[in-house]
Amino acid sequence: MKSIQSNIKKAKKYLDKKHCIGVPTETVYGLAGNAYSDISVKKIFKLKKRPMNNPLIVHYLNLNKLKEDCHINDDFIKLYKKFCPGPITFILELKKKSKISQFITNKKRTLAVRFPKHLLFRKLLKNLNYPLAAPSANISTRLSAVTASDVQEEFGPNISYILDGGKSQIGVESTIINLINKPTIFRFGGLDISKIEKVLNKKILIKTNSKIKIAPGQFPLHYSPGIPLRMSAKKPRKNEAYLLIKNRNIVSKNYYYLSKNNNLKQVAKNLYSLLRKIKNKGYKMIAVEKVPNFGIGKTINDRLKRASKF
Ligand code: TXA
Ligand code: MG
Repeated sequence: MKSIQSNIKKAKKYLDKKHCIGVPTETVYGLAGNAYSDISVKKIFKLKKRPMNNPLIVHYLNLNKLKEDCHINDDFIKLYKKFCPGPITFILELKKKSKISQFITNKKRTLAVRFPKHLLFRKLLKNLNYPLAAPSANISTRLSAVTASDVQEEFGPNISYILDGGKSQIGVESTIINLINKPTIFRFGGLDISKIEKVLNKKILIKTNSKIKIAPGQFPLHYSPGIPLRMSAKKPRKNEAYLLIKNRNIVSKNYYYLSKNNNLKQVAKNLYSLLRKIKNKGYKMIAVEKVPNFGIGKTINDRLKRASKF
């Protein structure tokens, strides 16, 4: 308990001094900085090697501060009440008087906002008087980080501090929904879209592969382990690491389990860390067993597909 308090204090100290730090969330780790500060926000882009036209998500504790920065609507309220804090990001209209750094949105009038559930992140937000801009804590296009040591591996000595909150429970990024006109999914994620549909009680559009450059997370090359990856593989080729989602009787040193019993939540939780491990072991190719395309399986397949565009 004492160390939690002192770690939060340390994290706050770095953030107040306009540094960026690693923070744990229930989806993946974030690279966080003061969302009101141009200096902090520019540091995030630089450290992540992220193009400045790819906007960041801003993380809030609750509606109080959000209302100062964004216009909200009925769809938002319904989803907020049901799913927040949790793995969903909303695209809303930015208010004119908002204090959000213009570098976050690339001067556009929309803002991606999220209310993370991880207790440490929430404790941290309670201690700050600004929201936190935080993209996933990885170098642009690479695999997201799900532990503090993954974040360290990505940024080495360039990161000031990482708040260690254990392994991210969900393991894949938040679901992104644009609520400005017709509700539209921009990215599959930790929250199943059928649940969102149920709450809004209407069909929602899906634009996760837009040719229009709205959200670079929609671009094909993303979430890349840096080596070729094959999906729906029935068996591995020579020297390929084979990622499985259910138990096999055959034992091979190249077999790795995302789950032993087809548990898709577990597959999501283990996905990035196992891909990272395989890459670090020096494999040159990855094959993955077919993943059912429902629930969070849709998100897993989306990430595998983008990772396979190596
Ligand atoms: O789970 C998550 O969402 C994690 C944790 C750290 O919160 N964050 C995350 O951030 O995945 P990032 O930056 O890696 O992905 C955010 C995506 C990007 O593809 C970005 O283009 C899109 O959200 N985005 C941000 N602002 C947007 C906006 N105003 N309109 C459309 N897309 C936006
Ligand atoms: Mg990312």
